[in-house]
Amino acid sequence: MIEFKNVHLQYGDHAVLQGVSFVIPDAKITAVLGPSGSGKSTIIRLMLGLIKPNAGEILVDGVNISHMKEKDLFPIRKKMGMVFQGNALFDSLTAEENLAFFLRENLRLEEAEIAKRVRDMIHFAQLEGFEDKLPDTLSGGMKKRLAIGRALIFGPSMVLFDEPTVGLDPLSTKRILDVIHDLRTDRGLGAVLVTHLIHDVETVADSVLILFHGKIVFNDVPEKMQECDHPFVASFLQHPEDID
Ligand SMILES: Nc1ncnc2c1ncn2[C@@H]1O[C@H](COP(=O)(O)OP(=O)(O)OP(=O)(O)O)[C@@H](O)[C@H]1O
Ligand SMILES: [Mg+2]
Repeated sequence: MIEFKNVHLQYGDHAVLQGVSFVIPDAKITAVLGPSGSGKSTIIRLMLGLIKPNAGEILVDGVNISHMKEKDLFPIRKKMGMVFQGNALFDSLTAEENLAFFLRENLRLEEAEIAKRVRDMIHFAQLEGFEDKLPDTLSGGMKKRLAIGRALIFGPSMVLFDEPTVGLDPLSTKRILDVIHDLRTDRGLGAVLVTHLIHDVETVADSVLILFHGKIVFNDVPEKMQECDHPFVASFLQHPEDID
């Protein structure tokens, strides 16, 4: 479980989050929706302890990580797999090497154990036959599945997805949303799904937080969005293509 308590975050004098509080429960898919520049990726960076809040607290399974030192953050980050907006795959490493990289860097494992975990993830990502390919030779959907496989390599309980369907065609989008759904349903993993696409929210989210002008303006199940009388939420539902 991840909890934000009255979190403030500014870059220089640009206040991005202005008192944000919410709980992200385990084993549920929580969407974070908001316009471009509203602070969605910032929320993910805070969850991972990559940046520190100016005020307020961030708790991961009850542990306050707001001011935690880098060396203490590894066990926290292991609980949260991260799928970056642009995948952040290593261009010069093969699919298999991308999966093995963080295992080799961070854990002292036998090569046989590494090979086993990598094989499991190749299977999960449906990349059999592509083990030796470089990311640039894979389709957008395959790259995203590889990035998800890499995010799962430490066995996290929560996966953070930053705009996982942006730039994918409808079929690849459906496959990725199916993967997110199956992680929750089959493996009991929670997900934070950062998106600006209402389709993603309506397809897989159990609940949705809407971020606007530095505040959470909605926090409920997607079905309740229709009843929300906040002007941003109402106009967004009428013209979802205008969110940027
Ligand atoms: N390192 C930084 N230094 C200064 N300003 C930053 C930094 N990172 C982000 N910002 C600014 O903070 C605001 C929030 O950025 P963030 O990346 O969290 O938005 P976002 O909601 O993820 O946007 P998008 O939908 O475009 O990905 C933006 O105005 C952005 O320009
Ligand atoms: Mg972003």
